[in-house]
Amino acid sequence: MNEITRRAFLSRVSLGLTAAIAGIVGVPIVGYLLAPLFQKTPDVPVPVGKLSEFPLGQTRLVKVRDPSPLAWAGQAADTALWVRRRQESGPQMFQVFNVNCTHLGCPVNWQADAKIFLCPCHGGVFYEDGTVAGGPPPRPLFERGWEVSGDQLLVRQQPLPTVKQG
Ligand code: FES
Repeated sequence: MNEITRRAFLSRVSLGLTAAIAGIVGVPIVGYLLAPLFQKTPDVPVPVGKLSEFPLGQTRLVKVRDPSPLAWAGQAADTALWVRRRQESGPQMFQVFNVNCTHLGCPVNWQADAKIFLCPCHGGVFYEDGTVAGGPPPRPLFERGWEVSGDQLLVRQQPLPTVKQG
C-alpha cells in the first residue's frame, strides 16, 4: 500500500493552497492587463445637440460620455468636446475637438475674445482650428469625426486621446 507521510501531505496541501491563492489574485490582474487588447470602442455616432445650438463662427462646449467598456469607469468616462461651427453647411461645417490638451491631457478652455484655446496646466495655446500656437503641446488638438442627421449633430465615438495617436 502506498502510504503518504505527514510531511508530503502538508507539502501537497501547501502547494495546493499556494496555487489557489495565485489563481484568485492573478487571474483578475492578468484580465485587467489584457482587457484593452480585446476591447473595441463602439463606433456609434452620438447626438451632441441641434444644429441651431451651434451658431456660425462660434465654438461651444458639449458634454459626452466616452465609450468605455469598463463597467467601473464611472465619472472618469464623462468628458467634453469643443464644437466649432465654421460654415453654414457642407463638409467643412464643423470641427469637433477633444477637450484634452495634446501635451498631458488637461482640459483646454476656449477664449472667445482671443479666438484661442488655452491649456491651464502648462500654458499650451491652440488656434481656433486646433493647431498649436505655442507652448509644449506636440500636435494639434485631437479631432473627432462628425455627421449631421436631420437637425442633429452627431459625433463619432473614439477612445480617449493619448499622444501616441495620430
Ligand atoms: S497639459 Fe496642456 S500644456 Fe501641458
